[in-house]
Amino acid sequence: MFALSEEHEALREAVRELATEKIAPRAAEVDRTAEFPWDVYEALVKAEFHALHVPEEYGGAGGDALSSVLVIEEVARACATSSLIPAVNKLGSVPLMLGASHELKQKYFPPLARGEAMFSYALSEPEAGSDASGGMRTRAVRAGDTYVLNGVKRWITNAGVSKYYTVMAVTDPGKGANGISAFVVEDGDPGFTFGAPEHKLGIKGSPTRELYFDNTVIPAGRLIGAEGEGFKIALRTLDHTRVTIAAQALGIAQGALDYALGYVKERKQFGKAIADFQGIQFMLADMAMKIEGARYLTYAAAARSERVMHGENVPDLTYLSSACKTLASDAAMAVTTDAVQLLGGYGYVNDYPVERMMRDAKITQIYEGTNQIQRMVIARQLLK
Ligand code: CAA
Repeated sequence: MFALSEEHEALREAVRELATEKIAPRAAEVDRTAEFPWDVYEALVKAEFHALHVPEEYGGAGGDALSSVLVIEEVARACATSSLIPAVNKLGSVPLMLGASHELKQKYFPPLARGEAMFSYALSEPEAGSDASGGMRTRAVRAGDTYVLNGVKRWITNAGVSKYYTVMAVTDPGKGANGISAFVVEDGDPGFTFGAPEHKLGIKGSPTRELYFDNTVIPAGRLIGAEGEGFKIALRTLDHTRVTIAAQALGIAQGALDYALGYVKERKQFGKAIADFQGIQFMLADMAMKIEGARYLTYAAAARSERVMHGENVPDLTYLSSACKTLASDAAMAVTTDAVQLLGGYGYVNDYPVERMMRDAKITQIYEGTNQIQRMVIARQLLK
């Protein structure tokens, strides 16, 4: 794949148009108020961009992995918070795509596709961040036709606005990673409540909250796959969705570069546009190269992700998804920091969007596995 297909190009155009008209004008306010952008959600649902990946047989648009990447990239170019709508809907529901029965998909995918419910993913806990399996304390105990859940999940993106949650919990404490199972929990299940929203550096309009399970009883049929498969389903999910975080990072970086390009052509110092100074040009060239390199790796990883979804054995997806996530998020941090530098004092104030982009970029180096964990995953793949 060295060029996007006509369909993919048309999709990018359509998302960019929507993002320019409906999302970009809201981004600063969403950041300032830290309120979830329901109007953006509705616009994304209307265009079927909110959960493009849901298969057609369950009422979805059946978009491929590259299409999801393009949607997330273009939405993030305007507003990183808003790009978490398609990204987290995918993260929460890929475990079902990989492991759930037809019945479970039948129950949960149509409402997701219709925009009636969002899906979140709950792996991390206060003591289980990078060591996601070793530190896990949330328990699920089988009781007749039900499971009873107790514990706390932390850093859950879109908590409170999502209706459905894929929750990983320990079912067999003696078995480590192989004693973890995955379940669907619904907002409204007994004993299931939320913590207060975190006050964050960026992605402010996307609520991040704890989930509390206090003797939460759910039907046994909400188990995804078999008991003990939950951690592997969780990691296989991340193989697909780290690619979407790369897409988000790319979008944020491109938004910052585009803004800076416009600015340096307008801003005059020493009698000419600052774009005419070689020192500025070298910065722009470095920014553009970092983005473009990360973009092709991300698209290649998305193509692998799609093949895996179709049942092909593609051994390098784990490596490529960690590599593109790391490369793109490091690029986004560097590019947005340089964009702030190019705008000088104007870059440092919130009358201009690049400081927001710099704050938003930071999370892409942290979530869905820190970039240190990604480098560990990459090295393990190289050395095995
Ligand atoms: N796919 C399938 N199975 C995998 C796998 C993969 N990519 N990687 C590992 N496994 C299997 C292993 O083969 C092993 O199975 P066996 O016991 O049968 O051999 C099992 O899973 C456990 O693997 P490891 O022994 O390698 O586990 P580990 O604990 O040493 O390390 C890790 C795993 C890579 C560090 C992993 O825990 C990890 O990725 N940590 C980061 C956690 C993370 O990404 N959290 C993100 C939270 S989600 C989030 O941020 C979302 C959001 O809000 C937007």
